[in-house]
Amino acid sequence: MLIAQLTDLHMRERGLPANRVVETNALTERAFAAVAALRPAPDVVVISGDLADRGEAGAYELLAHLIGHYLLMPCYVIPGNHDDRAKMRGPLGRYMPGADEFLHFTVEDQPVRLIMLDSIVPGQPHGALCATRLEFLEASLSAAPDRPTALILHHPPINTGIIHMDEMKLLDDGAFAAIIARHPQLRGIWCGHIHRTISGMFAGVPVNIAPSAAHTVSFDLSEGGSATLALEPPGFLLHRWQADSGFATHTVFVERYAGPYPFLG
Ligand SMILES: [Fe+2]
Ligand SMILES: [Fe+2]
Repeated sequence: MLIAQLTDLHMRERGLPANRVVETNALTERAFAAVAALRPAPDVVVISGDLADRGEAGAYELLAHLIGHYLLMPCYVIPGNHDDRAKMRGPLGRYMPGADEFLHFTVEDQPVRLIMLDSIVPGQPHGALCATRLEFLEASLSAAPDRPTALILHHPPINTGIIHMDEMKLLDDGAFAAIIARHPQLRGIWCGHIHRTISGMFAGVPVNIAPSAAHTVSFDLSEGGSATLALEPPGFLLHRWQADSGFATHTVFVERYAGPYPFLG
């Protein structure tokens, strides 16, 4: 099974670049075209938040149009801190089946079960899970203890060393970690938000942070590092599941590069 994870599209209303320099709508379309061209095709696409840059209704309508045009496989979305729950519901409701007050739901009809979790705090850049969402997570995991499961949420629970981003990670007083640690069928935690490809561990579970399909957060691990963006190669993750060996996660670049060339001695 192949699951493509795209993240941090930061789409805007038609014709407006994000942060004045990033043509996020065109970059999203290029990323979707790259996903559509993959062979074998992914079985599922998940988009892990910051779908829009400023929560604009027009951005969600354009995103729904692009999903419908390019992605023929099932596609699921969750919000990020740049998103607006109310404005997402109309255009993107079909990609959040079962979402209620919060935009969380599970996907049950695939070899790997997916839990799509809403980690946003409206008006705030950091993430947090209230009692309602922790209960949803616990109930979802308890409902299928024997099925391999991946958890998708926008905010990573780990520190990355990019300090201005770590200050807006998922805040957890230990309740989230305790739930994760209780459910060994959880095989991966997949996030966005950092706009860089990063892997780590949380409560014994591998964490993958996907690169943005648009701009990157500048690579700077120094104290007081500047909070700037860069235009490194955009990409996405392709999580490959094999029942007898688990997940292997590939980074795929959107743009094409020179090659392929044969291996010659
Ligand atoms: Fe983002
Ligand atoms: Fe974010």
